[in-house]
Amino acid sequence: MKICCLKGSPRKNGNTNSLVNIILKGFEEAGGRVTVYDLYDMHLRPCLACRGCQKDWSIVNCVQNDDMAKIFESVMDCDLLLLATPIYSWYCTAPMKAALDRMVYALNMYYGGERGPSLWKGKKVALVTTCGYPPEKGSDLFEDGIKRYCKHSQLEYIGMLCERHMGYKVPFMDYGKEERAAAFAEDLIRKLSGIMQEGPLHHADAETAGSEMKGVIRRVTALKPFILEAEFTGGEIRQYDCRKLIDEFPAFQAMVRDPEIFMHPKVACAGYGIVWNDELDVASEEIWEKGKVIG
Ligand SMILES: Cc1cc2nc3c(=O)[nH]c(=O)nc-3n(C[C@H](O)[C@H](O)[C@H](O)COP(=O)(O)O)c2cc1C
Repeated sequence: MKICCLKGSPRKNGNTNSLVNIILKGFEEAGGRVTVYDLYDMHLRPCLACRGCQKDWSIVNCVQNDDMAKIFESVMDCDLLLLATPIYSWYCTAPMKAALDRMVYALNMYYGGERGPSLWKGKKVALVTTCGYPPEKGSDLFEDGIKRYCKHSQLEYIGMLCERHMGYKVPFMDYGKEERAAAFAEDLIRKLSGIMQEGPLHHADAETAGSEMKGVIRRVTALKPFILEAEFTGGEIRQYDCRKLIDEFPAFQAMVRDPEIFMHPKVACAGYGIVWNDELDVASEEIWEKGKVIG
């Protein structure tokens, strides 16, 4: 099992690397061979759209002589391409985007006179992202973009782990994030081994696949103002008092003015959060960690 990981954060000890390092450790412990590229340390130019790569369909053939050559080699040799990036302006960081552009041309022979093959057809791709907004508003566009990128390139997209950064004054890593990162690594390992079985999954698949991963909600009910009851995918039920949110976040005062708003919560982002409207939401992790266990 060979993993090629592209790290796209400028902060070596930042959020994204803290998360992805747990996943890489999981791969190594399972006997995986991991090759990591720290894109901010590399010399990577953007794609020039010269289409020099399209002339010979039998080789990966970019005219630019920079560090992308090492990445092409490693990607062609890997079973899983793991892209780890903070979300910048609703997408990945600039060096990651440069690498994605270089790969979509150099590895897909679609852009010459005639349409040729995808040279990396069938490779698996997974994402690790961190963002400031709730995942459904922070990483959604990048995930959608990568899903389309994979479909176009005949790659197999196998999931994303996204964790939220609550601000520079709040420590990013906590027990829940560590657990979810380890569970995500296990899930990827299973998918790489081709073993389809029940077990911890990343949040995007959790609802449909019956995941046991903690912190993923499958049902929510507003019991009375301002008590939410959430059922998690492992069957646990927790009640959460939303007055905490009202005290902390001014936008939640809207619920005090009109308690009817509170009475209509919805599960969002495949169980990763609860939303009432564009302004009001709470992460599943908050309910998991601070909610009262009922069952
Ligand atoms: C330039 C810049 C742009 C950002 N844009 C977004 C954004 O569009 N959406 C979002 O949710 N977070 C955004 N963020 C927040 C980062 O994604 C978040 O802090 C992330 O966890 C940083 O990861 P790192 O510690 O690996 O650098 C942005 C941060 C920076 C510095």
